Amino acid sequence: MIVDRQAEAAFYDRHYEQFLRLPEESLRTNLAIFRAQLDDPRSPWYERRRLYSKALQRLLEQPVAGVEALDYACGPGDWGILLATQGAKVTLLDLSPVAIELALRKARASGVTDRVRAVVGEGSDLRCFPPASFDLIFACAAIHHVLKYGDPIPQLARLLRPGGRLVIVETLGDNPLLNLGRWLIARWAGQPEDQGEGEIFRQRHIKQLRRHFEVVDVEPLNLLAMVKRLFRGRFHYRPVRRLLRWLEQTDEWLLRCIPGLRRYCGEVVVVARRRLPAEPAGACLHTT
Ligand SMILES: C[S@@+](CC[C@H](N)C(=O)[O-])C[C@H]1O[C@@H](n2cnc3c(N)ncnc32)[C@H](O)[C@@H]1O
Repeated sequence: MIVDRQAEAAFYDRHYEQFLRLPEESLRTNLAIFRAQLDDPRSPWYERRRLYSKALQRLLEQPVAGVEALDYACGPGDWGILLATQGAKVTLLDLSPVAIELALRKARASGVTDRVRAVVGEGSDLRCFPPASFDLIFACAAIHHVLKYGDPIPQLARLLRPGGRLVIVETLGDNPLLNLGRWLIARWAGQPEDQGEGEIFRQRHIKQLRRHFEVVDVEPLNLLAMVKRLFRGRFHYRPVRRLLRWLEQTDEWLLRCIPGLRRYCGEVVVVARRRLPAEPAGACLHTT
């Protein structure tokens, strides 16, 4: 595994540059556009629609208007800009300057520039933010990139206000078969190491979250349905969608009948929360 943040930033700069050439109108986002992307089998988001739908549900289950939110390792900023369209005051943070430029263009195209600020920065060193800066921190496909540079979890906990939420959306890496499949696909596709996918979020990171947050709610998703990765770019074929839906339903049944299988799922949404000072200790909830 390479540990070179310059190479990783350069990789993402190159990757995001292509989107800077898009017309501003196509960069606009809001809740309706976001949901339409999840439902569109030709959209690259379709593959993660269950994960992202769950994340969206957890993000918006509490009002976000007026809250201070951090989109951590925001990439092109879709989630942060979406939160801004819902009234949140959003800070975008990413290692890649091009990601931040693209995210700011999306903010302009979506009419939320006044609610968005951006920082090009390192996710493992958050000392530039005072303690208790945020009510909500969102980290999608982000933590596993940062872990190799240093553990961000204690710092993310420090940045949250009492009662604040950290919503994590990640690939889950405790299933050896899935990990083998990921490794083979990465090799086969010639995935460059600079992409920074060498580390995967695992149960031990969830344990680490429990040391810093009083409430940790873990929702693993997709076991058999992880074969979806093999159908990338082919979801517009009806039989592929049918197969995927069948696998997803089978997963739901399997996970209900054998809860021990949840740890072997391939994706996860975690909501970690800091307790309010007045909240009784009995309000602590740890689920897996
Ligand atoms: C897979 S992308 C996810 C982007 C975004 N969160 C999303 O869901 O669309 C990973 C992002 O992490 C950023 N990144 C990688 N290492 C980082 C670090 N150490 N600090 C901050 N950002 C980092 C990359 O620049 C990239 O934009």
